[in-house]
Amino acid sequence: MAVIDVLGIGKRYPGRHGTLALEGVDLTLGEGAVLGLLGPNGAGKTTLIKILSGLLVPDSGGGTVLGYDLLRQASRIRAEVSLVAPTADVGIDNNLTVRQNLVFWAPVYGLHGAEARQRIDMLLARLDLEKKAGDWPMHISAGQRQRLALARSLLAENTLVFLDEPTNKLDADGVRSVRDMIRDLNMNHGVTVVLTTHVMEEAEELCSEIMFLERGQIRRHAQTDEVLRSLGIVRPIRLVLGLADRAVFTPPEPTALAAAEDVSWDVGAAPNEVSVTVRSSDVLATTPALLAWVFGQGHRLLGMASAPVTLDDAFATLSAAGEAKP
Ligand SMILES: Nc1ncnc2c1ncn2[C@@H]1O[C@H](COP(=O)(O)OP(=O)(O)O)[C@@H](O)[C@H]1O
Ligand SMILES: [Mg+2]
Repeated sequence: MAVIDVLGIGKRYPGRHGTLALEGVDLTLGEGAVLGLLGPNGAGKTTLIKILSGLLVPDSGGGTVLGYDLLRQASRIRAEVSLVAPTADVGIDNNLTVRQNLVFWAPVYGLHGAEARQRIDMLLARLDLEKKAGDWPMHISAGQRQRLALARSLLAENTLVFLDEPTNKLDADGVRSVRDMIRDLNMNHGVTVVLTTHVMEEAEELCSEIMFLERGQIRRHAQTDEVLRSLGIVRPIRLVLGLADRAVFTPPEPTALAAAEDVSWDVGAAPNEVSVTVRSSDVLATTPALLAWVFGQGHRLLGMASAPVTLDDAFATLSAAGEAKP
């Protein structure tokens, strides 16, 4: 059974012109997936997360989340999913220390005694808050408060977690610990994750699939590696070779190198060296074929640099096609 299975989700906010926030969004998400919602500000990412976590009722469409009906069982959904909003300070009590805040909330999520202590210790450690456990929330940084809010939502051992810009205001260490936490939840605890981010590198690192939203509509939804591959973005692979036979150099045929577009070469710095550039629409497929060719020819590999396609490229390509802007 899919964890999320919704069809035709639409939402218009009231107002003078009635902002159309979402239109015809379909989503089926399997257990253990990490879905990255990407798109410019106002694309509808937060609205979609609110609908899927049972906080907001869609105007049209419907379906199930965790098997519960989105329209008729929203309270069950709210009880069984975790949602971390970008400004998640709500629920942090400034009269309790960091640890006391978690101790206070634990029973709300059904955690008691030793089990609660263990989970709290684990979350404080994982989110790098151990040293701040005895501090007052107003004496810790904004990033630490954000991680405290994350820890609070993760007290509940829910199998579906929504994270709206989880690393937005964090420093490098905070980003690292939150990303590690998300990966750990997913890989070691089977938690299904939906997150939004503006950082392509983050989506690429964490997400098994990507949905680009723009003006409330899905522009693209696919597995992350499929998004990277299918756009046909051509990137160079550069090699410096020490020739087996200094007199003769025959470059490889592009057709012999998976996904290679063309091959060019030039004399290198030394007489028996050449530099070769292979342009490929799938660097990860071309590289092994290229290396096999190099060693098959008996050349020595003196240098190699390649730049696989990133989601940044994907975004640039989609926006050039008028489809999405970061
Ligand atoms: N509470 C609200 N009332 C009216 N309009 C809203 C409200 N929340 C969001 N919107 C509008 O809905 C659209 C989608 O917003 P949102 O879901 O927050 O996008 P994102 O999270 O991708 O930035 C935007 O045009 C936004 O201005
Ligand atoms: Mg948002």
